[in-house]
Amino acid sequence: MSRRPKKAIEKGMMLRVLQIMWQHASHYPWTLIGLFTAVVLLILSQVLTPIFYKRLIDAAIVATSPTAEVVHGLLVILSSIAAIKGLAWISRRLRGVCMVRFESRVMADLAMTAFDRLMRHSHSFFTDNFAGTLVRRVNKFVGSFEAIADQIGFNLFPSLLIIAGSLYVLSQRDMLLGVTLSIGIGCFIVFNVIAGLWKQKYEVIRNDRDSEATGVIADAIGNASTIKLFSGHAFEVALFGKINNLLRKARVVAWSLHELVGAVQGLIMFSTEIGMLAVAIILWQKGILTVGDFVLIQLYLNAIYNRIDDFERVIRKLFESFADAGEMVEIMDTPLEITDAPNAEALAVSRGAISFNHVTFAFHKTRTVLTDFSLPIAAREKVALVGSSGAGKTTITRLLLRFHDIAGGAITIDGHDISKVTLESLWNAVALVPQEPVLFHRTLRENILYGRRDATDAEVIEAARRAHCHEFISSLPNGYETYVGECGVKLSGGERQRVAIARAILKNAPILVLDEATSSLDSESESLIQDALHELMREKTVIAIAHRLSTIREMDRIIVIDSGAIVAEGTHDVLLSQQGIYRKLWEIQAGNFIL
Ligand SMILES: Nc1ncnc2c1ncn2[C@@H]1O[C@H](COP(=O)(O)OP(=O)(O)OP(=O)(O)O)[C@@H](O)[C@H]1O
Ligand SMILES: [Mg+2]
Repeated sequence: MSRRPKKAIEKGMMLRVLQIMWQHASHYPWTLIGLFTAVVLLILSQVLTPIFYKRLIDAAIVATSPTAEVVHGLLVILSSIAAIKGLAWISRRLRGVCMVRFESRVMADLAMTAFDRLMRHSHSFFTDNFAGTLVRRVNKFVGSFEAIADQIGFNLFPSLLIIAGSLYVLSQRDMLLGVTLSIGIGCFIVFNVIAGLWKQKYEVIRNDRDSEATGVIADAIGNASTIKLFSGHAFEVALFGKINNLLRKARVVAWSLHELVGAVQGLIMFSTEIGMLAVAIILWQKGILTVGDFVLIQLYLNAIYNRIDDFERVIRKLFESFADAGEMVEIMDTPLEITDAPNAEALAVSRGAISFNHVTFAFHKTRTVLTDFSLPIAAREKVALVGSSGAGKTTITRLLLRFHDIAGGAITIDGHDISKVTLESLWNAVALVPQEPVLFHRTLRENILYGRRDATDAEVIEAARRAHCHEFISSLPNGYETYVGECGVKLSGGERQRVAIARAILKNAPILVLDEATSSLDSESESLIQDALHELMREKTVIAIAHRLSTIREMDRIIVIDSGAIVAEGTHDVLLSQQGIYRKLWEIQAGNFIL
């Protein structure tokens, strides 16, 4: 599993996250304008309200007796307050409506982009990354947009406006008030930014630990039966316990820092309030401020404190969301390992001749599988690859499908280099029945239909008949509409394989790659599969990794592979007559069942 280096999210990545989010958000300019207007109006009303409260109190105090004139004056101020409150109410509704539309749409778009990009990655990418971790990254990425939009739209932006508005109004009353408040808020913000940056790396560690713990759970779930069969429960619990403990420690550090930061913030806020009131008393003494100004100051301080009280949480949440999104953006920005060459053309298979020319391939430096491997296969020829486990048979077939790129040599189909044709046309030309077929958690019909999605129901049934799975499918209560369970777990190995064969029959590609499962099937399954394969191989170029006697006998040529090299080739009878690996393998695999 590829892990992110344990460091705080870099500025570059944060900008990249913002860039991607903005790309998606900017598709909805009107909703954005609506949102912006709503927030500005809402904050404007919140800045205006205290001014009218101050006027109300001053008017009431100045009046010596409640004359009709005074009451009228008070009612006028009251109606202004009502109008402003009404404006606030409307702005809030507008903000709500816009936010719902904006966030839901952008989140849906981001999910589509992430899914599309993720599924373009290569075969090795998916073998190197846990499914659970990837699923989580997609979800976190989409969720992080909601969090970032919420923090900016409901917190950061309104906070900035309310601070600016309060500072303006208070400075108008007296510069000293503005200066005192600026100092208090300045200290608060500077402290928060420094503390936020300092804490960030601990948040990322916590996040990483969280992902690791999830990965362990997903891996264990995927291997639930193996764990039971190998009495691994205690071992797995201990393994999970270890990572869970690391996660707990990471949480303790991150959350304790949060508490510490909160304590310092509280001190700054409390000192600012006392400072402001002290200044107000001095100015009141000098006759510059009125009693109403005390109310004005208190209301502004309350409004600002309500906003910035959890400023630290907002910043933390923002960084957390950026870190969450960064995990997925990193995957989205990872160059695709296998892509179409520039100006790649579609592969047109006329005959289906395959050639491996001096192919060299290594998984990594220390794992060379093929060195100077050459194998020409004529059109419609049926070739069996045999060899001991780990010899490189599956790898050879994967190279033909360009699941990995080769380091040297070339692989051609009808003379076209497979690295120079479009991947889609290459995959269309080859049908693969893998060693261990995995099925979608969809109905049997949908699984077979995947071979050619525009096939009719009659064609699906015909393919199923020829693959000998129609019998067992018809016996199921829901027939073709039966759900097969995640990865096809509700079917037996032989049934799964026959469904995969039906899918390949429906696809009807000119080249067929067959990776026979080694697991022994009962003789009825074996003969059903044999019949199915016989059907499938007709009129096609076939590379079969063959274990079964019957498959091997049907082949034109048998290639014996050992450590990624061809050590012998010929027909079954010829190879058997030699005292080579083939004979040895044969004796072991067929249990000396030599005809
Ligand atoms: N993703 C991978 N990364 C690194 N090494 C790999 C990877 N996949 C396979 N290998 C190694 O490459 C070698 C060839 O593997 P391959 O799957 O082709 O063997 P095989 O002949 O198909 O064996 P079997 O009969 O057991 O299916 C093995 O040594 C295997 O460990
Ligand atoms: Mg294999």
